[in-house]
Order: sequence, then C-alpha cells, then structure tokens
Amino acid sequence: MELCRVPRWSLWLLQACAPRASVGQRRWLGCPGGMSGPLAYRGFSSVASRTPEVTLTQERYPVQRLPFSVVSEEDLVAFEHIVPGRVVTDPEALEASNVDWLRMARGCSQVMLKPRSSEEVSRILRHCHERNLAVNPQGGNTGLVGGSVPVFDEIILSTALMNQVTSFDRVSGILVCQAGCVLEELSQYVQERDFVMPLDLGAKGSCHIGGNVATNAGGLRFLRYGSLRGTVLGLEVVLADGTILDCLTSLRKDNTGYDLKQLFIGSEGTLGVITAVSILCPPRPKAVNVAFLGCPGFAEVLQTFSTCKGMLGEILSAFEFMDAGCMQLVQQHLRLDNPVQESPFYLLVETSGSSTEHDTEKLSCFLEQVLGSGLVTDGTVATDESKAQALWALRERITEALSRDGYVYKYDLSLPVEQLYDLVADLRARLSSRARHVVGYGHLGDGNLHLNVTAEAFSAVLLDALEPYVYAWTAGRRGSISAEHGLGFRKRDALGHSKPPAAVQLMWQVKALLDPRGILNPYKTLPARA
Ligand code: FAD
Ligand code: LAC
Ligand code: ZN
Repeated sequence: MELCRVPRWSLWLLQACAPRASVGQRRWLGCPGGMSGPLAYRGFSSVASRTPEVTLTQERYPVQRLPFSVVSEEDLVAFEHIVPGRVVTDPEALEASNVDWLRMARGCSQVMLKPRSSEEVSRILRHCHERNLAVNPQGGNTGLVGGSVPVFDEIILSTALMNQVTSFDRVSGILVCQAGCVLEELSQYVQERDFVMPLDLGAKGSCHIGGNVATNAGGLRFLRYGSLRGTVLGLEVVLADGTILDCLTSLRKDNTGYDLKQLFIGSEGTLGVITAVSILCPPRPKAVNVAFLGCPGFAEVLQTFSTCKGMLGEILSAFEFMDAGCMQLVQQHLRLDNPVQESPFYLLVETSGSSTEHDTEKLSCFLEQVLGSGLVTDGTVATDESKAQALWALRERITEALSRDGYVYKYDLSLPVEQLYDLVADLRARLSSRARHVVGYGHLGDGNLHLNVTAEAFSAVLLDALEPYVYAWTAGRRGSISAEHGLGFRKRDALGHSKPPAAVQLMWQVKALLDPRGILNPYKTLPARA
C-alpha cells in the first residue's frame, strides 16, 4: 500500500488530500457467513446451504409468542390487493429477511410485503391493526441487536421499494426522500451536488435512511455533524392503525408544540413506520485529511485526543480508535495491511475543512507535536482518495472481520472517555480462555466503545459470564448500555440498567397510546413483561 509514512521526530508537511473516499463509494456489504456478491446476500437459497443454520430466536431465548392472529388465506388476498405482485411467501426468498446480519436471530415469518408508497403502508397497517396481525418493519436488515427480523411469525414490512428522492434544495441542502433509500446512494446523490449526508457508517451500502432514523444511528460523522435528532428536520410516519402522520417539514426552526418526530427517531419500529425523511445535508468539505497513528497505551490515546481537540479544533471531523486485537482481525480475515508499526492502539484522525493549505499545516503541527512527545509512535497520512479509503477500511470493516471470526457477543456502550477501555481489560482477565477474542474499538471522540467478544459458537455459559456483568459495570459508571445500536430484541431486558423505572413506565404508556394493540415490532425495545 502506498501510504505516506510520517517520519518520526521530525517536522513534516502533509500533502494535500482528496475528499474522504467513503463518500459515495458503493461497497456491497457482504454476508459475514462467507458469501460473496450481492445475490448471495439478497437471494437466499445459498445462504442456508453454505452457512451453519441459525437457531430460531424462540428456541435460543426465553420468549413467548403474544396472542396475535395468524396470517390467513384471506389476509394474503387482501395484501395482494394492496400491493399487487409484491407479496412474498416463497420460504427461500423469505429466509434472508428472517435472519439478521449477525446471524444471531432468526424468525419464521411467512409473509413479506413490499409497498412503494405511504398510502400502501397505511392500507397494510390498517388491515393488520383490524386483524391483530403483528408487523416487523425492515429496512436494510443491518441492525446489530436483533431488532430487524421477526421473533416469531410477524409480517415483514420491507421498505426496499420505497427508494425515491422527492426533492433536494441546492441552497439549503435539505433532502427529502422515501425511507427505503440506501444511505450510500443518497451520499452519491448529494455529493454530486456538493453536499454530504450528515451520517456515514460501515453498513452504508445496505442500510436504509428510514432504518438509520428508526435506530438513531450514530456512525463515523457524529463527532462533526451530531445526532440525527438534530439533522432530521421532518418525518412522515404511518401509525399502527394506518393513520398517516405528515410531519415532513423542512424547517430549521419550528417550536409549534411538541416535537413529535423525536418520538420516532430511535423508536426501532415500535411506534410507527417511517415512510419519508427530510434531512439537512452539510456542504461537502473541500479539504479532507486522514491520518492513521499507532499509540503505545490507552493513556496516550486519551492525551492524543486532548491534544488533537486543542490543536485541530473546528477542523477535526473524526477521532476513531481500535486496539491491537481489531488490527489482527482485519489482517487475518480481510487481508488488510497494517500501514504503521505494530502498536497496542491505533487512531484514525480525520480533518474536514475548506482550506487545504490551512488544514494540512494544522495537521502537520499536530502530528509533529504528538510524535515528538511520544504520545504517538508511528503514523501515516493518506495522500489521495483511494489511500484515505484504505485507512478508513481498517476501522470501518472491523465489524465485518469480527463476524468472520465466529459467534460475536456485541456491546455498544457510552462511557466516560477516561474509562472507555477499562472494561475491555477487565473482561479479558475475567473470561481468560473462554473467549477467542475480547476487543475494543469505536468512536472515541463520542465516548462510544464497541466491546466485542468472539467465540467459536454461541455458548449460554459465556453469555452468562457477560450479562448482566457488562450492563451492571456500565450502569455503575452512569454509562449507556446502548450508545447507538438500539435495544432491539437482544438488549431490551437491559433497558433498566440505563433508565429509571419511571422512564420505562412512561415508554410503555407512549407505546400504548400510539400502538394500542402492540402490533408494531412486538418483543423489541421495551422489556419483556413478567
Ligand atoms: P434494519 O436493520 O432493517 O432495522 C433496524 C431497526 O429499525 C429495526 O428495529 C427495524 O424494525 C427498524 N426499522 C427499519 N426501517 C424502519 C422504518 N422505515 N420505520 C420504522 N422502523 C424501521 N450503527 C450505528 O449506529 N453506527 C455505526 O457506525 C454502525 N456501523 C455498522 C456497521 C456494520 C458493518 C453493520 C452491519 C451495522 C452497523 N450499524 C451501525 C448498525 C446498523 O447499520 C444501523 O443500525 C442502521 O441504521 C440500520 O439500518 P437498516 O436500514 O439496516 O435497518
Ligand atoms: C461501528 C459500528 C459497529 O462503529 O457501530 O463500526
Ligand atoms: Zn459504531
């Protein structure tokens, strides 16, 4: 890999870098089961035959089917009337939508519906509400908490065909589109108009903007552009009874009553089906630099972060970290090259601004400082777009590498930044040889740790060693047990570790108000009731 190595202990001038490569780069997000090519992911027949069977969620976890109706022949006739030719009942075609990306959850839905418009979604939900049929909204099925697939036989409501851009304002940068638009396609679309999407994540090639909003996805641009709670300006949502709630405004300021859209951002399909999104896109930065650094310890990682904020200030756009275990996994499973000396920790620092000269000089000074003081032992910077992309791949593709390593126990925690890595070290000692790998990486700039434990296969004993220990440890530091992935099916019972009983009670009341029959994504987000 031709990367520009940072000479240690010397003043060094950066060359101008092209804009960040991942913007608009279509990369199909492969199935971690070892398949290749989009057909292997979307068409399903081959998944079941080439990869180990995924245990049914209802068999692995203690969960009882709630008394919803079962889809009848009459229901299928009604659905065929609403979405002609878009009622999927072929078991092989349904398989890909019954199993989640991590291959840890499996439902047994027998029907998937593919509406094209909000009106069709409304008619479907009105029917399901009247018939007491449970529904699982599904976007790109890249969720990491078992929220995107049915637990039992819920009807899958896919947004895959709701993929039209409605409007884009070249002055304000406000994009209005249907919920099923793929994030990377939107990125390409706005980039051609000199804007960027305010969020970016490793799943961009598959995830839908509606799924992003439904999970309040964080990702790699959070440090710069903040939460979707700020950048989403309006939503159109279909409620459980089929009512279309048109809050699809494109206003920066609007204090007319309660901000209802916020209820649906991060509600994981339990309160309504998001059908359209209005989102504010920032201008495309003219100068983007990416540096990849090696650090001798976590204390140095923290000091580098402080120095970085102080020296790069407003041009800092990402500060990501990964440990040596993550580097080993991306090398082993994805054949990526480590561009710097082997180190206990690695950092990816990105700057985005409007002046190449100014930003490269700032970054040079920062690198000189951290290399000179020994906070960083080695580093490299990208000198063109493909090299920037190669550096980003080391960080972005860790999730993929982990999935290739075996069964993954995944934790996504918000913690005080100075304690961000303590739990990783603690768990390594606690689990010793019971786990294959215990690794940590994440959005250090946002105080968000991705703690991952891999093992050859699922083990209830290992799960018992991890939970509720990880959650209690996090609660003990007033952290969040889900920083950005949501609760879905897997984490719903841990909600009480991050929210007081009064808050959970209020959440149930909101759910009862908006979805009185509980048909939308049952078994998700809210804890199981005793
Ligand atoms: P799905 O997985 O299909 O669904 C997720 C949840 O949203 C489900 O509960 C579903 O019912 C609900 N839902 C989906 N669409 C709608 C809708 N239109 N209306 C109502 N509810 C809906 N997440 C991050 O936050 N940051 C990251 O950096 C990140 N990186 C990732 C990297 C990889 C490689 C992978 C596989 C995942 C990553 N994720 C990340 C998790 C995931 O991509 C995000 O949660 C994403 O936003 C999910 O979008 P989706 O369209 O795939 O939704
Ligand atoms: C990431 C996902 C896992 O940050 O959230 O890579
Ligand atoms: Zn993340």
